[in-house]
Amino acid sequence: MTGTTQDDYTDVYARRVRGMTTSEIRALFAVASRPEVVSLAGGSPYIAALPLDAVGEMLGSLAAEHGAVSLQYGIGQGTVELRERICEVMALSGIRGASPDDVVVTVGGQQAIDLLARLFLDPGDVVLAEGPSYVGALGVFQAAQAQVHHVPMDYEGLIPAALEEAIAAVARSGRRAKFLYTIPTFQNPAGVTLTEERRERVLEICERAGLLVVEDDPYGMLSFEGDAPLPLRARRRDGVFYVSTFSKTFAPGLRVGWILAPHAVREKLVMMSEANVLCPSAFAQGAVTQYLTTMPWREQIKSYREIYRERRDVLLTALRDLMPAGTSWTNPAGGLFVWATLPEGLDSKAMMPRAIAARVAYVPGTGFYADGTGTSNMRLNFSYASPDRLREGVRRLAGVMEQELAMRAVFGPASAPHHHRRRGAAAADAPGPDLA
Ligand SMILES: Cc1ncc(COP(=O)(O)O)c(C=O)c1O
Repeated sequence: MTGTTQDDYTDVYARRVRGMTTSEIRALFAVASRPEVVSLAGGSPYIAALPLDAVGEMLGSLAAEHGAVSLQYGIGQGTVELRERICEVMALSGIRGASPDDVVVTVGGQQAIDLLARLFLDPGDVVLAEGPSYVGALGVFQAAQAQVHHVPMDYEGLIPAALEEAIAAVARSGRRAKFLYTIPTFQNPAGVTLTEERRERVLEICERAGLLVVEDDPYGMLSFEGDAPLPLRARRRDGVFYVSTFSKTFAPGLRVGWILAPHAVREKLVMMSEANVLCPSAFAQGAVTQYLTTMPWREQIKSYREIYRERRDVLLTALRDLMPAGTSWTNPAGGLFVWATLPEGLDSKAMMPRAIAARVAYVPGTGFYADGTGTSNMRLNFSYASPDRLREGVRRLAGVMEQELAMRAVFGPASAPHHHRRRGAAAADAPGPDLA
């Protein structure tokens, strides 16, 4: 079949694949990676801030001196050494007393979410998730043929009353909600953080409803103003599955994440993972273990925080100075993203080709909803582009938006792109792995 563009396999695909389509947005992202485009679209950490020479030496000795182990197969759960280090990392976030025995090392946080979906979701089950939510998780839930029911957020994160309503609505529809998937701290894509008070409320509501909680916490350590609130898992042991990763605190290229699971479930997770990848990469685990044992990783996190704080400030100032009236945005206290809401009538997805032509990229809000909403939103990343490029990116974006608004003023709303809703939009708009 080499060379054919027509898909001859459509009647062979599994049902879970049928909703998956490539989108025009994906094609645009290919263009967005050109150097002349300022990309505010990605989710990449600023890896150039790592001491790459020292990391290189460490990786060299990992092969030369420990190759018999680091280049060999390992065990499905991940090495004991790394799981012990992971418990120390979690203790820094406030999760104390976790046992290495209850940790499962995964191929990034992404595989952790996938394993939990495989473990708990039957086709037709419902997952509650913030609206908007992490695009990679939406892709996992779609592949599991589950339905995502979004729960709205405000500037204080997930709204507890809306969670209660959502649980009731799912129950009324006769379906079963299995878990709440939540990113309570420095949320991707919204940049908001669930307040202390709401953390208790959310946990109580889930407990009462018999709903498991999957807490995804890649960003908790990237706080710009003091420490982040304690993770949900630090408040409850039972019913909370804690997922995190070294992607944002060290390096995503190593693909090392983990799940801290209630003990009873841990063995099933390991079996799932073995069926999936046999074992996580021994070399990558060795690299993270060495990094955490021999290198100043806490200082590195501090330097990531400082770099990102400065870049967040640059982005927020540029937005304040340049965005057309009627635009609003979140003010993240950590993490990598700002979520912007456009002036009435602008459509972030329809505007994308014009933005790319003006050499700026963002992720349209629709990618972060399973139901096609989000046309008036966009996610802006501030971790990757330099401060100068961030300012220039916002300048270009503001120019595109001003033009759209002027067109609307002249030709009226009819000429403006229409809003549309459709199911299964998340996978179609998913921007691809480099844009996590
Ligand atoms: C909320 C969230 N969860 C999970 C991931 C997956 O990260 P990784 O698989 O690199 O650990 C990301 C990456 O951007 C994320 O933002």
